[in-house]
Amino acid sequence: MLRYPCAFRTENANEYNAAQRIMPIADSTRLGTNVEIRQPGLVNLYGCSVGDGTRIGAFVEIQKNAVVGARCKISSHSFICEGVVIEDEVFIGHGVMFTNDRFPRATSGDGRLQTEADWSVERTFVKRGASIGSNATVISGVTVGAYALIGAGAVVTRDVPDYAVVAGVPARALGDVRVRGVATTTTEAA
Ligand SMILES: CC(C)(COP(=O)(O)OP(=O)(O)OC[C@H]1O[C@@H](n2cnc3c(N)ncnc32)[C@H](O)[C@@H]1OP(=O)(O)O)[C@@H](O)C(=O)NCCC(=O)NCCS
Repeated sequence: MLRYPCAFRTENANEYNAAQRIMPIADSTRLGTNVEIRQPGLVNLYGCSVGDGTRIGAFVEIQKNAVVGARCKISSHSFICEGVVIEDEVFIGHGVMFTNDRFPRATSGDGRLQTEADWSVERTFVKRGASIGSNATVISGVTVGAYALIGAGAVVTRDVPDYAVVAGVPARALGDVRVRGVATTTTEAA
């Protein structure tokens, strides 16, 4: 018996509810229609929402209360944590790491492991049409502007303006996608 199907595409949420018994896609996940997960046994999705037509690669984790919009591409090995809100038509490269705690600690003062009561989630926003290059890290609390382009390997520590190209550690302005002729219109905005 084939334990994991080779590819999976949603027609409606009920299909996922049935299929998740053999897949690490929790009941608490809210998936739109035509969400495409090519290696459904190799993702970890729980308590998040994913918009219509979004594609999710292998070894992607999306945590509870994270939001991914419609028609996004989430490439393999990326981590989208609680507190991250990604709008429609966003490209997330391979191995992109979001964060949600600027000063993380394993334990609290008395030596016990921290629980959710011991720290608070910092939010991060990625606006419509933005792209984040492979292996970039986004420090919590920032907003990546609409159609902005984050270079591969960047560490984003500050807000990125709409249409900006940034790269490096820490990420600094390199240019403007409109000057480079990169597409900045979408089906709804066009
Ligand atoms: C950031 C990016 C868009 C810049 O492209 P570009 O405008 O063609 O930039 P250039 O190649 O002209 O480089 C301009 C300068 O920025 C530097 N640079 C380019 N990309 C960089 C990066 N990711 N990190 C650090 N510096 C970078 C170049 O070394 C060059 O520096 P120099 O002038 O001192 O030589 C591109 O390099 C990039 O990282 N794209 C993302 C790729 C990716 O992750 N795709 C995912 C799907 S596979």
